[in-house]
Amino acid sequence: MTNQLDKKSQAWSALFSEPMSELVKRYTSSVFFDKRLWQADIAGSLAHAEMLGHQGIISAHDLADIQRGMAQIHSEIESGAFEWKLDLEDVHLNIEARLTQLVGVAGKRLHTGRSRNDQVATDVRLWLRGEIDLIIELLSALQKAMVDAAADHTETILPGFTHLQVAQPVSFAHHLLAYVEMFARDAERMADVRRRTNRLPLGSAALAGTGYPLDRERVARTLGMVDADGVAQVCHNSLDAVSDRDFAMEFTAAASICMVHVSRLSEELILWMSQNFGFIQLADRFTTGSSIMPQKKNPDVPELARGKTGRVVGHLMGLITLMKGQPLAYNKDNQEDKEPLFDTVDTLKDTLRIFAEMMGGITVNASAMQAAARRGYATATDLADYLVKKGLPFRDAHEVVAHAVKTAQGLGLDLADLPLETLQTFNSAVQADVFECLSLQGSLAARNTLGGTAPQRVLAEIARHRNRLD
Ligand code: ARG
Repeated sequence: MTNQLDKKSQAWSALFSEPMSELVKRYTSSVFFDKRLWQADIAGSLAHAEMLGHQGIISAHDLADIQRGMAQIHSEIESGAFEWKLDLEDVHLNIEARLTQLVGVAGKRLHTGRSRNDQVATDVRLWLRGEIDLIIELLSALQKAMVDAAADHTETILPGFTHLQVAQPVSFAHHLLAYVEMFARDAERMADVRRRTNRLPLGSAALAGTGYPLDRERVARTLGMVDADGVAQVCHNSLDAVSDRDFAMEFTAAASICMVHVSRLSEELILWMSQNFGFIQLADRFTTGSSIMPQKKNPDVPELARGKTGRVVGHLMGLITLMKGQPLAYNKDNQEDKEPLFDTVDTLKDTLRIFAEMMGGITVNASAMQAAARRGYATATDLADYLVKKGLPFRDAHEVVAHAVKTAQGLGLDLADLPLETLQTFNSAVQADVFECLSLQGSLAARNTLGGTAPQRVLAEIARHRNRLD
């Protein structure tokens, strides 16, 4: 069987008097990266063909040929036997050409009522939908690992910082759960992006729709492009459907925000692991040594994650810039959406996977954390609150405690180490019960509002997260 596409090397040859230059071929071809869309491409083609058959646009015989050919192509690609050709530009033309080679004329009928413009938009959406589902699962695994780690540390106290200055004591569990909240919102954002990604461009053809009596809703249902009530989701304007890539921008924005969360966590892990903090150790399998300094254990994984955040944010900038000058409808510029999108997905998935494992294997140095909380007068606010309970206006109490801290600093002591008589010189309302509030444990237990660091509250949050994540 001869293959027209193969022979002429181009899908549009008749009009052209000379072949495309080799350089241009390489410049314009996308097959070596977009072949990654092959499963989506085959699924989209099968759904389209089934609908063409159902509508009587192609015969049942043609449909059967297409299905048989696609099944073979599927196994050829899966086994690595499929020969990808640069000459055939992209994944779509490669698969279509092979189909025609395998089943003849039925293969040439597949493209009825379709264009590569609505085809590629459909493929990218289908592919991304599957990736978003994986990312949501990975976010869930990471959250679970962090909730489990938190469960061991509701009474482990470290300084909470503002401006990287010791502020008030918090539990390590509370600190970890802050990130769980961030990752939970990241998962929500992904689910939201998925809703808008999961809409069908196919049937828009090149840009204006098509004269064939297509049933687009049927194709959407076949491809699972339905809402929560099972209602088919199709793009309602053909110009928009083939040309906008806002779902890709939106996804990359959500991915960037998620990476920024990972990056902030990374920065803390790196600080905590440094000798100056000494709060944690990462498991050895997540660290590297130095080729010259034998004593070193470096937090390469969090450092790389922090670095890769720049890369993902860069992809977001790339995609946004890609779209900003494009007139309606499809322009070849859009082919440039794939590499940034693919790399964003790969980077985010690898990062989430490795963090889920890493966060499960952290060793905590509770005494170093506690000592650090002691060093910075972390309970000064508690002393002010104590005086407020004794009747002082908060602003006055604040002033009194500032004097107390200054005195303690001069003596090189913590507030809790000052004798009662000394504390009473700052304000006569101070009684022996003051020492309860000056302890780190007392400070934690007092912060028992919803969202606060009191162990009781944090335990309730752990239960809520576990319930939500199961
Ligand atoms: N490889 C192209 C892309 O990724 C497919 C669409 C080509 N359409 C066209 N009219 N040249 O966007």
